[in-house]
Amino acid sequence: MTGPRVPPGTEPPWWRSGVVYQVYPRSFADSSGDGVGDLEGIRSRLDHLSWLGVDVLWLSPIYRSPMADAGYDIADHCDIDPLFGDLPAFDRLLADVHDRGMRLMLDWVPNHTSDQHPWFRDSRASRSSPRRNWYLWRDGDPGTPPNNWLAQFTGGPAWTWDERTAQWYLHLFLPEQPDLNWAEPAVREAMHEVLRFWLRRGVDGFRADVVHLIGKDPDLPDHPPELVGTNVVHTHDLPVTHELLRGIRAVLDEFPGDRAMVGEVNLRSPALIAPYYGAGDELHLAFNFVPLSGPWDAGFWRSVVEETLAALGPGEAWPTWVLSNHDNPRHRTRYGGSEARARAAAVLLLTLPGTPFLYAGEELGLEDAVVPPDRQVDPGGRDGCRAPLPWTADAGHGWPPEPWLPFPPDAAARSAAAQREDPTSVLHLYRRLLAARRGSPALATGTWAAAPAPDGVLAYTRQTGDDRRIVAVNFTDAPVGLPLGEPATVGISSSARGEGGAWTGSLGPGEAVVLVPGGAGATG
Ligand code: NOJ
Repeated sequence: MTGPRVPPGTEPPWWRSGVVYQVYPRSFADSSGDGVGDLEGIRSRLDHLSWLGVDVLWLSPIYRSPMADAGYDIADHCDIDPLFGDLPAFDRLLADVHDRGMRLMLDWVPNHTSDQHPWFRDSRASRSSPRRNWYLWRDGDPGTPPNNWLAQFTGGPAWTWDERTAQWYLHLFLPEQPDLNWAEPAVREAMHEVLRFWLRRGVDGFRADVVHLIGKDPDLPDHPPELVGTNVVHTHDLPVTHELLRGIRAVLDEFPGDRAMVGEVNLRSPALIAPYYGAGDELHLAFNFVPLSGPWDAGFWRSVVEETLAALGPGEAWPTWVLSNHDNPRHRTRYGGSEARARAAAVLLLTLPGTPFLYAGEELGLEDAVVPPDRQVDPGGRDGCRAPLPWTADAGHGWPPEPWLPFPPDAAARSAAAQREDPTSVLHLYRRLLAARRGSPALATGTWAAAPAPDGVLAYTRQTGDDRRIVAVNFTDAPVGLPLGEPATVGISSSARGEGGAWTGSLGPGEAVVLVPGGAGATG
């Protein structure tokens, strides 16, 4: 089992070798003093990201929006919401990101718009509107939705009855997020133009929101009874979407400079995700969300990696790895709050074969905030993982009083400033891991093979030519022996112990290590 290969002697593209860092703009940094993060805030904290060593920033939506779903309900794809700034602020941010040698990806939301988007307002205005067919309207009886699909977040029907024109419209998410009809050529062209608008402005690529949903069976048939009441986001997977993705890819390919798209293909199975790479003519990358709902367990992780590499095959399809994002409890929270596990998970995430996606704040070892009912904002119950990042150890943590959500636990000790002072901190561990990837083609893009390991430990080698690293992750809370049969040096230890010294053959409780073959001091 080795996984996809980068042919020797070729320079891998940035989206394969780099590490992507997701910025949730509301929660990153505030420059305006309104308690909500913004573009100038992000720009003011780029030093943190350069120092950390990330390669690519992905910004969750920053477009004009009524914010029914925190910006995933877009009312103007080609303007910035005043909450976050304006187009000149965006241009300044993009220029500064590029000046620092980093890349910028935007979120692109192709499945739906806001109900306040002029396209939907037009569509809704009358049955004969030129844009009527831009959305999915169906006849019916006001008491009986056209099919049995349920909407994400409300749990009610995925249909809303429009009194004025006496038809239903489809929304797989909130009623404020009507689904676009990608079967309509004008919709395809308009959404392609949105991509071109930002590509011309210089962005390096996009994260495409629930992109597996854009193709719809024109009959919009009922889900089979066993799927009724389940999350519809996981159940749409149609051939027509691949044709649409080829059209989208062709737009990216019109532009020079290696633009790329990572798709949120929320199908939770590597075998179902693999076809979304096409024959190198659909998505450059597709999210693999299987680990988001799995346990902290060596056997689980080994099988996910093996299943992923088997499904994607030895060709061009390149895996991705995600532990946290703005839709799920942070992994430290999911893994029981343990700092040792959060540290070991960082070693795992940043040494697996594929492109890692970090979620802002995981480099601080953050857990979810506890958000009291009177401060909850999100209709999907996802506020905890969206809490503001603590920058400083003082009471304000670098924010004005009362930011839009409360801070995560232990915000002073886990603030960026406090951790930067402590070379043994989680923050410094992430920095060492990112530097190690940059210094080692094996870690960045090498092959992967499982290595023998006792129960509760996942061990593997990464290799490119002569460059080799051995990674071992102890998922248990007890020390475990791991004899190697060859001398090695500890390159990185999740507990910051013994780095640079000879490998002793023993992993501490919950410890993960990156080993460099060779005697003490070997650097590869
Ligand atoms: C997935 C996004 O990540 C999530 O935040 C959003 O609510 C839905 N798609 C709808 O756009």
